[in-house]
Amino acid sequence: MYSKSIVVALALCGYATAQDFGVPLSWRKFSNTRPLNERISIAQAAINAILPQLNSATAEFNGIGFWQSGNVWSVLANQDRIAGSTVNQARVIANLNTAFRLNANYDKFHSTTTRCGGQRPRYMPTEPMGILPCYPMPCLVNLKRSSVITPAQASAGRHPAKSFTLAGTCDGKSMAGGVFWRPTADDQGVNSVTTGYAPPRSFLAEITGDQKYTNAAIQSANWMRSLNINSKNLALDTVNAHDCSRSPDGWIFTYNSGKLIEGLGVLSHVTGDNQWDTLMANVLIASTKGAPWQGSNGVITEGSSPNSNNDGVSFKSVLIRGLHEAFERSSNNDLRILVHSYVDVQYNALLDLAANGSTYSSRWAGPPQGFTTWGQLAALDVMTSAINAN
Ligand SMILES: *[C@@H]1O[C@H](CO)[C@@H](O)[C@H](O)[C@H]1NC(C)=O
Repeated sequence: MYSKSIVVALALCGYATAQDFGVPLSWRKFSNTRPLNERISIAQAAINAILPQLNSATAEFNGIGFWQSGNVWSVLANQDRIAGSTVNQARVIANLNTAFRLNANYDKFHSTTTRCGGQRPRYMPTEPMGILPCYPMPCLVNLKRSSVITPAQASAGRHPAKSFTLAGTCDGKSMAGGVFWRPTADDQGVNSVTTGYAPPRSFLAEITGDQKYTNAAIQSANWMRSLNINSKNLALDTVNAHDCSRSPDGWIFTYNSGKLIEGLGVLSHVTGDNQWDTLMANVLIASTKGAPWQGSNGVITEGSSPNSNNDGVSFKSVLIRGLHEAFERSSNNDLRILVHSYVDVQYNALLDLAANGSTYSSRWAGPPQGFTTWGQLAALDVMTSAINAN
């Protein structure tokens, strides 16, 4: 009796702390019956519908901005990889080369994420497509090393690229591993999309096998864990590296958690260290269940903007891409079922509620409307992810 009750108590403890990958039954249509060939053609048709907006002289699309256009290219490359085709390959190569020719290092805005170390385009005509995960965009894998806060700089309270005194710790936690949003000397922001985006370094670690990238990725993942994830396991936005002030608590955006999920998934794969897998799963569960960007039916409502474009419209596609990356890399069947279900909720919402032919509103809960470039962009990752998340 005695030992049995201990077993029961342990089992209950285990249950209480176990990660819950269960799919909420309140979600709207979390499965799919469309066959593979139909899913491929739905996704390609969505891509084809945005192509008339392409300005080949700039590799950008009318109606959306530069970084949003970069996201279109990553979907085209992913579409080929996942569908096992080369339908989009020549167009991706030609336009990435154009964008690199016009913007050194694919850097139009001098932000950390696009200012990245003089690499040639990854998709040169002689290189086969599909070797690498297609997002980050080529330059994004080369985060400027001078934008990262090292442990020594955190201790010294000085960063060579910055004109202000560095807070070595915030909330008692080291700022080492944080990545500045912009290289500008007086810009103090360290944020999730550059740091949680430990993936550039995780990807570099994976591609090169070089330990220095792994170590850098671990430092950034630690920074995110100790300083920029809230009590619900969702990524926050920004910490000020001078006075430790923070972005408002309500600044919880899909893409910050999406990039973190993607980064931790790769880091877990590269290191084989379970703690990153656990953290990734925690953020993934929080992002798919009970996140502020959706109601009980699970349909993402963030960035619903029928009449005008803004950056936030396309954040949700970055979350979907991160979830899909986790789905592809994970061997955890429960996690895969959760992502599959979440992607299908968005897929079915777009097809049932927001579609007008092969074009989609940025308001995924509908109603449909006439074509907008930003609405189309936001839908592309869902369509392409649904090819093999089913
Ligand atoms: C569908 O798109 C067309 C072309 O953009 C537009 O004229 C039409 O009003 C849209 N239909 C609905 C129901 O929004």
